[in-house]
Amino acid sequence: MENLSYKETVDLLKESHDLTESQLITLLDGDRQCKNYLYETARRTTDAIFGRTVYLRGLVEFSNICKNDCYYCGIRRSHSHITRYRLSGEEILRCADKGYRLGFRTIVLQSGEDLYYTADMLCSIIREIKQSHPDMAVTLSIGEKERDFYQACFDAGADRFLLRHETATRLHYEQLHPPEMSYEHRMNCLKTLREIGYQTGCGFMVGSPGQTGHHLYRDLMFIKEFHPHMVGIGPFLSQKDTPFAKEANGSPNDTLVLLSIIRLLEPKVLLPATTALNTIASDGRESGLLAGANVIMPNLSPPDVREQYLLYDNKRHTGAESAEALDELEKSIGRIGFRIDFSRGDHPDYCCGTESVKRR
Ligand code: 5AD
Repeated sequence: MENLSYKETVDLLKESHDLTESQLITLLDGDRQCKNYLYETARRTTDAIFGRTVYLRGLVEFSNICKNDCYYCGIRRSHSHITRYRLSGEEILRCADKGYRLGFRTIVLQSGEDLYYTADMLCSIIREIKQSHPDMAVTLSIGEKERDFYQACFDAGADRFLLRHETATRLHYEQLHPPEMSYEHRMNCLKTLREIGYQTGCGFMVGSPGQTGHHLYRDLMFIKEFHPHMVGIGPFLSQKDTPFAKEANGSPNDTLVLLSIIRLLEPKVLLPATTALNTIASDGRESGLLAGANVIMPNLSPPDVREQYLLYDNKRHTGAESAEALDELEKSIGRIGFRIDFSRGDHPDYCCGTESVKRR
C-alpha cells in the first residue's frame, strides 16, 4: 500500500474516499504538476455531480460584536481599535430584499457571538425573510448557542447553519482559544445542529498557528465521520492587533490541496472558495473552483459596515467580492468556464429543501 506515486495516491483517494496520514503528507508535498492532477481529479468529481456551476450565497455580517476572545480573530472581544456595529432587524431585512432582487436565493446571516440578539429577535427576522421570500434559504453563522436557541431558529424557518469546528484536536483548540472556550461545547453544538435538521457546515483554517499535518489529518477524518453538508476552509491570515499578529499566514496552495481532498472524501459536499483564499491569492476564487469548490459567498452587508468586519488584515470586500458586482463575478468565473447557478443550492441529499424536514 505504501510508496504509492502521487498520481496513484490521488486515484486511490478518488475511488475509496479515504486516505492515510502519510498519503495526506504526500499530497501536500507534491510538485506543481502533481498537484494539478489532484485539482483536476477533484474538479472532474465536482463536474460529475454539480456541472460547471457555482452556487451563490449573499453574506450579511450583521454584527461585529463578540463575547469571545479567539486568539486569531480580528473581531475578538479585546480588540479595542475597531468600531463595533450592529444591524437592526429592519436593516437585515433590507439586505435580504436587496439580495433577493440581485438574484440570491440564499442569505447567510453571520455575526460575532453577540448576546444582544435573542432567539426571539432572530426568529422574527428569519420569519420575515421567509414571508417575503419563501424561496430563499436562510443560513445562520452566529456561533455557539444552546439547543433551544438553535431549535427556535430552525422552527422559525432557518435552513442551514455554519459553525467551523476550527480544529478537531482538543490540544490544538486550546492553543487557538482562551481557557473559557470549550472544544466539547463546540463539537456538541455541531452534533445538535445536525440532530435538529439543519444542513450543517463545519470547517477549519489552513495553517493556523501550531497546526501540524497530524492536526489536518484529524480534521479530515472528523469531516469524513461527521459527514457535513458544507465545509468552509480558508488560509489563516494574521490580524495585526491579535495575539497571533506575528504568526505566518496559511498557504494558499495547501488550501487548494485540502479543498481537493475534501471534495474527493465527500464528493457531494458544498464547498466555498472563501474570501480568505481570495485575499491571499489574487486568483484564489478561480483556483479554488478549479480545485473542486462550488460555492461563492459575495458580501451583501451594507457597504458602510464592510470595513468593520475584518477578521484578518486586508480582507477583500470590493469588486467581485461584493454582491453588487455580480456581472464582474460572472465574467471572471466565465473566463474559466463556469456559470452562476441562481437556485437555492441545497445539498444533493437534502430532499426538497424545507418540505422534507419537520418543524415544530
Ligand atoms: N484568518 C482566517 N480565518 C479566520 N477566521 C477568523 N479569524 C480568521 C483569521 N485571522 C475564520 C474562522 C471563523 C470564520 C468565521 O472565520 O475559521 O470560524
